[in-house]
Amino acid sequence: MSPPSDIRAVVIVGLGKPEVKTVPLPKLRDNYILVRTTAVGLNPTDWKHVDGARVGEAVIGTRVGCDYAGIVEEVGKAVTKPFKKGDLQIVVPENLSDSQAASLGVGITTVRPSSSGEQQRIFIYGGSTATGILGIQYAVASGYRVATTCSPHNFEYLKSLGADAVFAYRSPTVLDDIKAWADGCDSLTLAWDCVASKETAKLCAAVLSRTKEGHYRSLLPVPEEVVRSVNEQVDAGFTFALGLLLADGRVKPADTEVNRGGKGLEGVLVGLRELKEGRVSGRKLVYTL
Ligand SMILES: NC(=O)c1ccc[n+]([C@@H]2O[C@H](COP(=O)([O-])OP(=O)(O)OC[C@H]3O[C@@H](n4cnc5c(N)ncnc54)[C@H](OP(=O)(O)O)[C@@H]3O)[C@@H](O)[C@H]2O)c1
Repeated sequence: MSPPSDIRAVVIVGLGKPEVKTVPLPKLRDNYILVRTTAVGLNPTDWKHVDGARVGEAVIGTRVGCDYAGIVEEVGKAVTKPFKKGDLQIVVPENLSDSQAASLGVGITTVRPSSSGEQQRIFIYGGSTATGILGIQYAVASGYRVATTCSPHNFEYLKSLGADAVFAYRSPTVLDDIKAWADGCDSLTLAWDCVASKETAKLCAAVLSRTKEGHYRSLLPVPEEVVRSVNEQVDAGFTFALGLLLADGRVKPADTEVNRGGKGLEGVLVGLRELKEGRVSGRKLVYTL
């Protein structure tokens, strides 16, 4: 069966306005593959793009979405990787379902692997974000002791992933509590921020060592002077990353919630609102098509 000439997509029709529309199937380019999507995962970047966060009105008319799993339908003639019609794309270990696979894309390329394990401890701000959940497991698997923050209802979940200490970020004593954990080693020099606001950056800088060079890395850019204003020993940067240890089951994808608010692209519109309004906690929204 040949692919249809039209497909359905979530299209940005105005700033803050996503709609499900029938649109032409993109023409297959030589270096691309055509995939029939079976499940999609949502990310905060999706609703941020709908709102025009990066480029304003230039997003109007574009289609929304990053993470998916599906079946290869056609392979462009210049593609060199061994894709063939009927393959599952993305390639995932057999122990993951399509919905779990759809939850991984942006998160898995965002979490940065540690280099050598010479650091003994790391602080991860926002451990219950989808990327934090992956980051904790990767850090633990790399030999780090991890302290992290989340709401109390996620404490046990993050401990089950291997976090050594978990702190409530809304607690008035959160800073002192983390410092007490950090002072236990006098060498906390790494912080990874999965929320990445000025406030969270300052807290991260405040818990790092005052005597040793420290490194703050965040999922969204935060000006280095924000971090330096709190702790001059700390540099700042923005992380993208490569891979995680999924195949042997040591790293698990974030729990998925499938079709919250409805199936398919209509459900995606509900999910975008849920994400934007902060009602997604400790899990990843995925929609089957
Ligand atoms: N640069 C990149 O490539 C890249 C890639 C992916 C994501 N990002 C960005 O990184 C951020 C996280 O993305 P995600 O997909 O991992 O998030 P997510 O899973 O949608 O985050 C939801 C979680 O955020 C936590 N949270 C919300 N506000 C918080 C705060 N002020 N302090 C601490 N925790 C807070 C909540 O924890 P509790 O329920 O426990 O309170 C909730 O579980 C977003 O801003 C996103 O745009 C960047």
